[in-house]
Amino acid sequence: MDGNVRPANMERITTPALAEAFIEEQIQALRSQIGDQKVLLALSGGVDSSVVAALLIKAIGPQLTCVHVNHGLLRKGEPEQVIRVFREELGANLIYVDAVDRFLDKLAGVSDPETKRKIIGKEFIDVFAEEAKKLEGIRFLGQGTIYPDILESHGVKAHHNVGGLPEELNFELVEPVKLLYKDEVRVVGKALGLPDGMVYRQPFPGPGLGVRCVGAITRDRLNALREADAIVREEIDKLPVRPWQYFAVIPDFKSTGIKDGKRYMGWSVVVRAINTVDAVTATSADLPLATLKTIRDRVIAEVPGVNRVLWDMSDKPVSTIEWE
Ligand code: XMP
Repeated sequence: MDGNVRPANMERITTPALAEAFIEEQIQALRSQIGDQKVLLALSGGVDSSVVAALLIKAIGPQLTCVHVNHGLLRKGEPEQVIRVFREELGANLIYVDAVDRFLDKLAGVSDPETKRKIIGKEFIDVFAEEAKKLEGIRFLGQGTIYPDILESHGVKAHHNVGGLPEELNFELVEPVKLLYKDEVRVVGKALGLPDGMVYRQPFPGPGLGVRCVGAITRDRLNALREADAIVREEIDKLPVRPWQYFAVIPDFKSTGIKDGKRYMGWSVVVRAINTVDAVTATSADLPLATLKTIRDRVIAEVPGVNRVLWDMSDKPVSTIEWE
């Protein structure tokens, strides 16, 4: 039987009890696959890789090494959360790689979106492979592949992401959630005790804030984007029903502002919130005006260099979800 096909009779994991049963079954399967060998896992902090990490920690504990690469394009608080949850709470072997300067130096002056994506993807693989080579005796590579990734290997994610690991590393894959849908991965993550902020995290593209800092990325604009994005998410998180994806974008133009009677040039921040089923088409979410106004006031007051807040209310098509 093809291990990449979900059996027709496989029950949908919708309850904590079903998740517990899946976890027990996977722990046994992982132990028999891995034996006393070592596993390496790129841990982004997204729900899929986090669930794989938590499963592997339960199954093989110290035989797992996680690598978290901070490429400088993560959202506010993300690297700290990964370190807190996995190193401090779950006791994982976690290598934290601060590659911020390395990525931002490579991206300096690059404005074409696909070139930016390629640089980020390639650099990520280089950094990860360098870390892998420093470690002795790794046999397996853990991966957060989920069922839609297999079904849509020609879909959005495959279209946007680039690369794979160099062949000389020659790892065997460990993919314990590859037959699960996203909602099932979340139920399993919850049962594993991961924090809600991780389990119910909205989708976040691999190149991260890199495709939301429009044009050539500069550190000042990237920092402003990270702060504004945290405000946008914090305010929208207060809504009873949250949109599917919501974030800030910072365009690469300035416009006139006025402060203490003096005119000056400042950045604009764009608020984007969408609803979708599959990200192929999407509609702009009807944000309450009060939420938009709070976001506007907070961004202007709290984010240095920003003097204008805009709402992108476009649907896909014709506007893609991301600006780049
Ligand atoms: P677009 O902008 O094409 O986005 O309407 C559709 C969905 O894909 C996400 N996205 C990406 N995901 N790497 C990813 O892993 C990428 O380079 C990338 N670009 C866009 C986007 O956030 C949305 O959910």
